[in-house]
Amino acid sequence: MPKISELFFRSAILFLIVGIGLGLQMSISQNHNVIGAHAHINLLGWVTSAIFGGYYALNPAKATGLPPLVQYWVYTIGVVVMAISLYLVLTGNTALEPIVAGSSLLTFVGVLLFAWIVWMPAHPAVVAHPAE
Ligand code: HEM
Ligand code: HEM
Repeated sequence: MPKISELFFRSAILFLIVGIGLGLQMSISQNHNVIGAHAHINLLGWVTSAIFGGYYALNPAKATGLPPLVQYWVYTIGVVVMAISLYLVLTGNTALEPIVAGSSLLTFVGVLLFAWIVWMPAHPAVVAHPAE
């Protein structure tokens, strides 16, 4: 499996552990105050990261070089910061809303980079000799 897929799956499973942890905490406390953080940690963090990782595993020609690494870090840092700041906003720290907004936009940039990677032609040398 390409390294970039491994990276995406490593962070995806950490997001799932944290996301489920928040879901359990809401269920046990019977206080569903952080639904938004729970939903997006699971959906942006676990589901979407795993789809990105799966795509790179299915398309090794797109998995090498700088673009996937840049896409990984932009997207993952965006989701981590968004998750933490959204959790804090939903638990009363409303002053952090600009951080949620900024990190959401960073996450979106990560998605746009992925769109570019999907649409750009693969490097011919890598198509001929996939390294991983
Ligand atoms: C054991 C694991 C989980 C527990 C205990 C749990 C618990 C919860 C709870 C208590 C809520 C709030 C429900 C409400 O007040 O309406 C919720 C909402 C939600 N959860 Fe989970 N959850 C779990 C796993 C997941 C996973 C894996 C995903 C996604 C892949 C997910 C996605 C969502 C979404 C999207 C909502 C919002 C639904 C809505 O807007 O009505 N959850 N969850
Ligand atoms: C940066 C990207 C995203 C932003 C800024 C965003 C923003 C939002 C906002 C503002 C809400 C309404 C929350 C509320 O009424 O309390 C929402 C709800 C929701 N979003 Fe997203 N979203 C993003 C990505 C996604 C993705 C990729 C998915 C699915 C794969 C998703 C699934 C949901 C679901 C299921 C809900 C309803 C559950 C909830 O209330 O949290 N979102 N989102």
